[in-house]
Amino acid sequence: MKSFQLASLISLLAASASAHSWLECVDTQVSNYDAAKANPSLDVQQTCNGYPRNKVSNGDWIQESQTYLWDLNNVSLNPDGLACRPSQTNTYPAGVPMTTARPGQNLRLRHWGNGHSRYDMGSPLHKDPGVVRLYHAGKKETDLKLKSDLVEQNWVRGAQANFSADAIIQITGNQMNEKANYFDWTVPSNLEDGRQSFIWVWAWGPAVTSNSANFNPATDYNNALLNSWTTCFDIMIVGSSATTSADTAGSSGSSTPSTDTCSKTCLKGGMAQYPCTGSDCPPCWYVSGGTTNCFEYGKDGTCPFGGAYDCKKNIQTRGATRFERTPFE
Ligand SMILES: *[C@@H]1O[C@H](CO)[C@@H](O)[C@H](O)[C@H]1NC(C)=O
Ligand SMILES: *[C@@H]1O[C@H](CO)[C@@H](O)[C@H](O)[C@H]1NC(C)=O
Repeated sequence: MKSFQLASLISLLAASASAHSWLECVDTQVSNYDAAKANPSLDVQQTCNGYPRNKVSNGDWIQESQTYLWDLNNVSLNPDGLACRPSQTNTYPAGVPMTTARPGQNLRLRHWGNGHSRYDMGSPLHKDPGVVRLYHAGKKETDLKLKSDLVEQNWVRGAQANFSADAIIQITGNQMNEKANYFDWTVPSNLEDGRQSFIWVWAWGPAVTSNSANFNPATDYNNALLNSWTTCFDIMIVGSSATTSADTAGSSGSSTPSTDTCSKTCLKGGMAQYPCTGSDCPPCWYVSGGTTNCFEYGKDGTCPFGGAYDCKKNIQTRGATRFERTPFE
């Protein structure tokens, strides 16, 4: 599809669909940024060197607008209050690699404007575009799991921008064509080498309060801007001289047992004759001594006994209540 057709299609869909956005690229190289910013009728010349997690339908805006974005606050879609869409696992298919970067490197993130870049135009009208910001668990190989982890303590200080401040937007009459929305930030210098995972958030929500006129995105955190949409990504940090994982925020993520559990062999239904591995197994895993047993969800769609590690959603589920048996203990 030619880019101008896609742009019109996107404006059309964005105008009719409910508000949403997601992160498209983590390391965007734009060769004509200044020229396109000055003259938005130009085609933006850009390539992507590093992507968010598991972008299986990369380039298919329609598919991604249904199956890739993550609506934090829709309880029917996100009953467990997860910070990341469960399909956004730490997986990078061929052609859509993880970002590699050095501490102190500037990265240009790109997200979709989808008709929400201005207060006085687009859909819905008279709504502040809000901010985009990043969260990090504080150490490598560690993920923030829950939307309740997306708080100031886990915010990457300084990693915040107005949703549309750096966007290239072509205005024709009262129509806007958001050619590209960017969010520039600098990889913190105190991250050690290894995989560091981040969550991109668009803070917008129904009860948006604008930032004050003297708002400083590098230092000010506005709790009134409701975190609404997320995309999860990793950066493979290289060339760092940091050796401890002291981070921007200094907090460790929610307690997360090692996902090593999910790479073991488990026994389906606890039966020794049915060993399985990976996605061939049912989702609820229970470790007991040297054995791991796994079970399907119950009728209510949750793990049948307390204390499971849910390998499909990649979370520790609630502990067993005293009225329940915990298997194999
Ligand atoms: C939540 O998601 C469901 C399922 O896609 C949808 O029907 C519903 O309209 C959404 N609710 C809101 C408030 O967006
Ligand atoms: C973002 O920038 C726009 C345009 O300058 C402004 O109207 C809006 O209030 C800003 N939003 C926030 C949350 O700072």
